[in-house]
Amino acid sequence: MSATFSPDMTGRRALVTGGASGIGEVTAKLLNQLGASVVLADLNADALPDAAKRTGALGTVDGNVASAADVDRMVADADAMLGGIDLLFNSAGIGDDLVPVHAQSPERWQHVVDVNLKGTYLMCRAVGRQMVERKLGAIVNVSSIVGIGAFPGRSAYGVAKAGVGHLTKTLACEWGNLGIRVNAIAPAYTRTPMVQSLLDRKIFDPTLIENRTPLGRFAETEEMARAACFLLSDWASYITGVVLPVDGGWSAYGAAGDVVKIRTGDGASAG
Ligand SMILES: NC(=O)c1ccc[n+]([C@@H]2O[C@H](COP(=O)([O-])OP(=O)(O)OC[C@H]3O[C@@H](n4cnc5c(N)ncnc54)[C@H](O)[C@@H]3O)[C@@H](O)[C@H]2O)c1
Repeated sequence: MSATFSPDMTGRRALVTGGASGIGEVTAKLLNQLGASVVLADLNADALPDAAKRTGALGTVDGNVASAADVDRMVADADAMLGGIDLLFNSAGIGDDLVPVHAQSPERWQHVVDVNLKGTYLMCRAVGRQMVERKLGAIVNVSSIVGIGAFPGRSAYGVAKAGVGHLTKTLACEWGNLGIRVNAIAPAYTRTPMVQSLLDRKIFDPTLIENRTPLGRFAETEEMARAACFLLSDWASYITGVVLPVDGGWSAYGAAGDVVKIRTGDGASAG
């Protein structure tokens, strides 16, 4: 598969959280290839130097997005490196324990919500302050299909990602009259280190996921990066407050049967 779509991001200055791995890293690389200057932010300080080399990032900042003090410091340092922040991509996130609510630890629940939701809120707040002053900017947050439909065992992550979607819409409404756009992508299963570790530990069966997905496969990380870069670019100049499923049709699918069998015509009648 080849993609020829390429918005011009020349001169744009971007901060990417979770930039040391997965969707954040690949989006940072594509932003750089499209002409933007990029700073990576991540909790994993050890991984940042190599990620900067792989993505062509101008610089890196390390810290915890769930800490207001860390966020203020990272944003101030990134702002100094870039000379202003036009674009923010909030990809930092963690998974949850895959246990039902009655078996969950409240502390772990809170931690998952803090990183995924509070972290996104704090980053939007800190970068948004200067975007509001300059009346310019675009933000893309990362929700999930788990924030659209309920997944048993994923209450913390699901609540956090649903919250990211709602936060996105709220900010779009608060800042729209200033010309600041805020959108989110809602990925399905994407082959990143986070998902690979779940597959390696046999926490879920890839065949079940492929069969549940109308496009019949996992997403590639680049497919998330392209959607994010589109929403960050001027090509999306009239799009704000959208939570865009980038999910191979996962959230569109509602039938009880096996999507692959029905699609290929070798299953039962679709009735
Ligand atoms: N991979 C998927 O299938 C999938 C699906 C839906 C949504 N998402 C979301 O996409 C985003 C990226 O996921 P990924 O699969 O690329 O994961 P990943 O683990 O490859 O990358 C996540 C990055 O976030 C960083 N991070 C974690 N906690 C942090 C914190 N407190 N402060 C700063 N950085 C922190 C990690 O160090 C890591 O570099 C996450 O928000 C995730 O929830 C992923």
